[in-house]
Amino acid sequence: MDEELLRQAAAILRQGGLVGMPTETVYGLAADATDPVAVARIFKAKGRPRFDPLIVHIADPADLDQVGEPSPADRVLAERFWPGPLTLIMPRKPCIPEVVTSGLPNVAVRCPDHRLARALIRAAGRPLAAPSANRFGSISPTTAAAVRQELGAQVDLILDGGTCRVGVESSVVRTWPSPVLLRPGGIAREDLAAVLRMPVALADDEARLASLPAESPGRLPRHYAPRIPVRLKVPAQAWTPGPQVARLAFQGHDLPADGVNLVLSRSGDLIEAAAHLFAGLRLLDGSGCQVIEVETVPETGLGLAINDRLRRAAAAEP
Ligand code: TXA
Ligand code: MG
Repeated sequence: MDEELLRQAAAILRQGGLVGMPTETVYGLAADATDPVAVARIFKAKGRPRFDPLIVHIADPADLDQVGEPSPADRVLAERFWPGPLTLIMPRKPCIPEVVTSGLPNVAVRCPDHRLARALIRAAGRPLAAPSANRFGSISPTTAAAVRQELGAQVDLILDGGTCRVGVESSVVRTWPSPVLLRPGGIAREDLAAVLRMPVALADDEARLASLPAESPGRLPRHYAPRIPVRLKVPAQAWTPGPQVARLAFQGHDLPADGVNLVLSRSGDLIEAAAHLFAGLRLLDGSGCQVIEVETVPETGLGLAINDRLRRAAAAEP
């Protein structure tokens, strides 16, 4: 780890600047979570609407009580899954300004499992608000180069922590009054339920958008979207042949020989598939083809998060 670069990044954060921060899920665009002006800069750089709240990142699970008021179930989950790809929603402490939570009484908190991320938060000496480091609605970056491609001059410094290990964003969970998975992500719903010893409800997007507009405001139908159109294919359907078709396959069965093909995991490993998902979409977006065809995966484990991202990438323009 480059100590000098880390010191520089921490100084930028303390002065209200923006730093591209590697995490185990995707790269984040980080600012001092306790500085409302710095946080406002995040929204501007991303072109992100102000109603979409940010996740607060802490260096150590023990720092949780400084930013939020966890329920007993939050503590159980944090104990088991932190540091890691899990975000918990809970009442916020006064040190977290309203611009972070978009005016909601709750704050989203996560302790990332990445050496450089935790070292940066520690060096900055304060919690860091960080959304994924992409333009709003676009594909989340899993490399430093992708952050540069997405945000370029909008970010003061990008720390290169290599390729993100998990590759999809954290699972967002509200435990109170009963557990709900607001966004499927790097921790499987089954594993959350096993640790809580209770079922974890799935926040159904349509129902939530209709009845609970403020619950997780960032979950828009079209998201993670490449520039060229994305078409969803279920495994039973045949691939569309043609030289202008880019294909993102799960295991790579029955692919046409023309166009551009990418396989997420030949062995059918959903963890490997998640790790390759965003880089694959980004590559196909730049392939020169006219359309990307993507194949859904089994809906278990990380498959829930993968299919969620694929469906949103393919959702029609509003
Ligand atoms: O893995 C991740 O979670 C990455 C890395 C950088 O940590 N971050 C990330 O942030 O994906 P972002 O901003 O792209 O997504 C945050 C999600 C959004 O769906 C947002 O609506 C939800 O978390 N969220 C944030 N604060 C919330 C709150 N107070 N209540 C409900 N949902 C919240
Ligand atoms: Mg995002």
